[in-house]
Amino acid sequence: MNPVKVGLLGLGTVGGGTVNVLARNAQEIARRAGRGIVVTHASARDLNKPRICDTSSMTLTADPAEVVNDADVAVVVELIGGDTLALELVMQAIANGKHVVTANKALIAKHGNEIFAAAQKRGVMVAFEAAVAGGIPIIKAIREGLAGNRIEWLAGIINGTGNFILTEMRDKGRDFADVLKEAQQLGYAEADPTFDVEGIDAAHKLTILAAIAFGIPLQFDKVYTEGISAISGSDVSYAEQLGYRIKHLGIARHTENGVELRVHPTLIPERRLIANVDGVMNAVLVQADAVGPTLYYGAGAGADPTASAVVADLVDVVRALTSDPENRVPHLAFQPDSLADLPILPMEQVETACYLRMRAADRPGVLAEVTRILGDQGISIEAMLQKEPPTEEEGATIIMLTQTVVEQNMNQAIEQIQRLDAVLSEVTRIRVESLG
Ligand code: HSE
Repeated sequence: MNPVKVGLLGLGTVGGGTVNVLARNAQEIARRAGRGIVVTHASARDLNKPRICDTSSMTLTADPAEVVNDADVAVVVELIGGDTLALELVMQAIANGKHVVTANKALIAKHGNEIFAAAQKRGVMVAFEAAVAGGIPIIKAIREGLAGNRIEWLAGIINGTGNFILTEMRDKGRDFADVLKEAQQLGYAEADPTFDVEGIDAAHKLTILAAIAFGIPLQFDKVYTEGISAISGSDVSYAEQLGYRIKHLGIARHTENGVELRVHPTLIPERRLIANVDGVMNAVLVQADAVGPTLYYGAGAGADPTASAVVADLVDVVRALTSDPENRVPHLAFQPDSLADLPILPMEQVETACYLRMRAADRPGVLAEVTRILGDQGISIEAMLQKEPPTEEEGATIIMLTQTVVEQNMNQAIEQIQRLDAVLSEVTRIRVESLG
């Protein structure tokens, strides 16, 4: 049988990796897919740029629309990122009856509902394994491997750049900006690195994971998102003294009242496996009713790991080319007419334990004032550290771990604590999850 012809949009890190993996493992891939898979067409913004892959056998163009509209191309692989031109091209590819593979988490998180509806109507597949956690087959695991379960919650380290920064800060005391620069040079960071450090990239990925875990529509605008840029080296070290690690987590939880969707720095007990996922590595912990907890670990970014997911999607698409569109694995794991309209809980109603850090005047009664406010809000203290003041003006550093508290009660307590004369700094709050 003739090989399936693929058109690639984008020849950067992931595009180059995809061409290399397809060439390197061509025979194994053909044995799995039942047909060869070849990149015959590719587009790149700058055709003169040096590439990490061999493009000599491809028809190259600077205009991605030419690839999408080429009659020979059966599958379009979208690797240009962003959600404006990429959306236009993907919708055009679908309209042209082509299957699509994409690594674009922003595109799926923000426009997936309309993309999947169009694909469903046209009878084509849109595969997006590479959009979440790079090389970890987490979409397939949740959508197919856990299909017999009711998923209760999931928590993931789903941004490699952020995890790399937090790890280097903890292990080497390195400077935030310096580590970010290295992640950019290694090709891990987003084109706009604030997406990594402010949690937007993780929020895109969490939106996708929650949709396939709970059978709900993609709702990126409802994710509570907080980044790691306010985390200081001292928080990392105090957390360690209390037996915790700080990780930037995406958390989705199905509660009685609705679905929690949140991305924020989180203290997790250092004995948890996921607390020991370091560097650019990603991990997703899924709690499901039948199987219990399962943990998925691997490289979350980089050329070959992300290409691994893109190529797996290509194999899936090729295997399904002759299948009846009605009998394919649904894009969002649940049949499109069976998605649930569950409410997404506002962050004020979410319950977590908290780590609090503040500086306060070192005199009798100050701690009593702080604990009275916490007590009045029904907040119980689990552990406490106090560090001597370096100078009297700077005050003593107080660190507290609280028991589980509803977010809005903690917001009120923090507001009142900050108004105390004796409290000399803002209160830093980092949420705590036991992930037990
Ligand atoms: N910027 C992303 C990360 C790349 O650091 O994880 C993979 O999505």
